[in-house]
Amino acid sequence: MRIIVCENYEEMSKVGARIFAAQMTLKPDSILGLATGSTPVGLYRELIRMNSAGEIDFAPITTFNLDEYYPISPDNDQSYRYFMNENLFDHVNIDKARTHVPSGLAEDPEAEGKAYDAAIAAAGGIDIQLLGIGVNGHIAFNEPDEELIVGTHVTGLTDSTIEANSRFFASRDEVPTRALTMGMASILGAKKIVLLANGVKKHDAVMKLLDNTITTQWPATLLKVHPDVTLICDKAAYEG
Ligand code: F6R
Repeated sequence: MRIIVCENYEEMSKVGARIFAAQMTLKPDSILGLATGSTPVGLYRELIRMNSAGEIDFAPITTFNLDEYYPISPDNDQSYRYFMNENLFDHVNIDKARTHVPSGLAEDPEAEGKAYDAAIAAAGGIDIQLLGIGVNGHIAFNEPDEELIVGTHVTGLTDSTIEANSRFFASRDEVPTRALTMGMASILGAKKIVLLANGVKKHDAVMKLLDNTITTQWPATLLKVHPDVTLICDKAAYEG
């Protein structure tokens, strides 16, 4: 695992964006794996800036997001589809038809999961996957458990995740309790992985990533089997 420790969130976002820009330059029709949450917002802001400056082109880019609440409508301002439009897609020259987020309205979520993995495979696989990390070590919505699921699937959210996500909702009761998420194998199938972590609250999560154990009770530790992971964190997350 490559580790880049940055002074602060802004620097971390710029370093992360430069890696994505380099990928887009080397392979203009890249397949990008994207994440939601607070962590990647600065990186998306930087990609928007580079796009308006003519430094990167989103026209030939395809994207697949990690996850979506279930059930939820894409028009709901708490949906991850809405978040992606607001924080990236509406501000760059991407063809929205090439942007994929699991459907929070799928009648058959199991079938949606299978179709999602098939679409990733048909696109040629993810070239570079952006990840955040949960304070409980989750990756996407793969929550700590005795077993983890291989492909994209519906899952219940843990109390810790519902609590962490309640900051975006009017009340804790409004946080959906289920989600559609890429599985650990879908994520580990990406050619490159960039994991962002900032703030002292992510310190334990970062430390677990750097020890020499792998456990499904801390899903992020599975990233240790991947040959090309770059961890970009700020000093607060690294040093505690
Ligand atoms: C988001 C996702 C989640 C977040 C994680 C960290 O698509 O899959 O795993 O990356 O919960 O969230 P933030 O960045 O809000 O701390």
